[in-house]
Amino acid sequence: MSQQLPDDFLWGGAVAAHQLEGGWDQDGKGPSIIDVVTGGNVNTARHIDQKIDTHAFYPNHEAVDFYHHYREDIQLFAEMGFKCFRTSIAWSRIFPLGDETTPNEAGLKFYDDLFDELLKYGIKPVITLSHFEMPLHLAQKYDGWMSRKVLDCFVNFSKTVIERYQHKVTYWMTFNEINNQKNIENELFGWVNSGVLFKQKSKPEEAMYQAAHHQFVASAIVVDWAHQLNPELKIGCMCAMVPYYPYSSNPDDVMLAHQHMHDRYYFSDVMIKGHYPSYAKCEWQRKGYHIVISEDDEAILAKGKADYMGLSYYMSNTIKADVQTSISNSLDGSSSASVKNPYLSASDWGWQIDPVGLRYSLAALYERYEVPLFIVENGLGASDTPDANGEINDDYRIDYLRAHIEQLKKAVSIDGVDLMGYTPWGCIDLVSFTTGEMKKRYGFIYVDKHDDGTGTLKRKTKKSFRWYQQVIASNGQTL
Ligand code: BG6
Repeated sequence: MSQQLPDDFLWGGAVAAHQLEGGWDQDGKGPSIIDVVTGGNVNTARHIDQKIDTHAFYPNHEAVDFYHHYREDIQLFAEMGFKCFRTSIAWSRIFPLGDETTPNEAGLKFYDDLFDELLKYGIKPVITLSHFEMPLHLAQKYDGWMSRKVLDCFVNFSKTVIERYQHKVTYWMTFNEINNQKNIENELFGWVNSGVLFKQKSKPEEAMYQAAHHQFVASAIVVDWAHQLNPELKIGCMCAMVPYYPYSSNPDDVMLAHQHMHDRYYFSDVMIKGHYPSYAKCEWQRKGYHIVISEDDEAILAKGKADYMGLSYYMSNTIKADVQTSISNSLDGSSSASVKNPYLSASDWGWQIDPVGLRYSLAALYERYEVPLFIVENGLGASDTPDANGEINDDYRIDYLRAHIEQLKKAVSIDGVDLMGYTPWGCIDLVSFTTGEMKKRYGFIYVDKHDDGTGTLKRKTKKSFRWYQQVIASNGQTL
């Protein structure tokens, strides 16, 4: 069978504003929740401060200064042949505190210029409205997404930018990896998803479900409103897909892995199906949780279903019924029943590399939802070392991406998945989300910036740059 991808397949690359823009306090931007998160590494967790500590190092403040380099960076994306570029809008550039009614024109202008620059080369912007960076003020004054006030602020922000950019941006997503907060043990996830420290609540998991409910309603309002504004617009949801496999054919492993998959599906179930799954209602009853959901909310959810599903895919995870470990430092989608998969190798950051898991995920999601899928993140975080001539021969990255593209092609041609596109993560080196490092690099383009904040910020293409260029030129035939 031919493994041809559709002619309009959206090849590109993905980033998030806070991980590459820098300019954290420029042109009226307010501090965001990520601006108070320090650097860390694979062994040392990032610390969440409540205000800027002048002695601390916050890697996102400057990041790789895309704010001032975006023209040269986009020129390189165009040279690779990008059809699209996924980034996010920093909410606190537009509404510095988050609860104002009038937006910051300088922030709006920055994204106008950025989108114009992309469109100049025929690159379609793909925009996430909230990628781990709500205004800090909203987290502090209203307890983040615990409050319905923040729901209103998000809707106001979304309407402002969608209305402004509707003729430049067709593809949108509401919340990045909204399902990460299901891990309530590691505070980083709840903080960046919702601006809430769930472990400080008397019932952390109940609080997480309540905050997520407000996000579901906000997302549905935005989807419905955007469709009325402009029927051309496509508004997706976005989840991290780390499939859980049973460790063995022991029915206990199989059943536990199945139950664990609810952690992955719960969020997209609500956002794509437009109602709460029965397994969730059972869980709330069993645990004595009371989630405030009005009848109006239910009607809104049913009306504002996501048009497509964006997903990130980096790795799979494996579940064993008789295991119980702590996941308070887990950054790889592990649960307390996770074990190493003996069939897989892992990256230097412990993420288990599993290309077939991508095909498995795409098939499972498409059969479940029957809406188009978009792989908006995938890639290998690795430490790149320039050789004696200053070249970066990142064959390990090429191998990783090639193996995953082979599998996505099978998902399309054999499993019948409707796949919109593929945007590898961190197409230019940027700050790692989980660790705050620069050392964990994903890019086709190297940036001379280091974990201690030093570096010239100079850009340089890696070997994978030319490789990806021919992948796109051949629509995935030359790998
Ligand atoms: C996803 C996020 O979790 O994975 C990105 O959407 C993140 O923001 C990416 O950067 C890779 O994670 P990390 O920790 O390697 O940067």
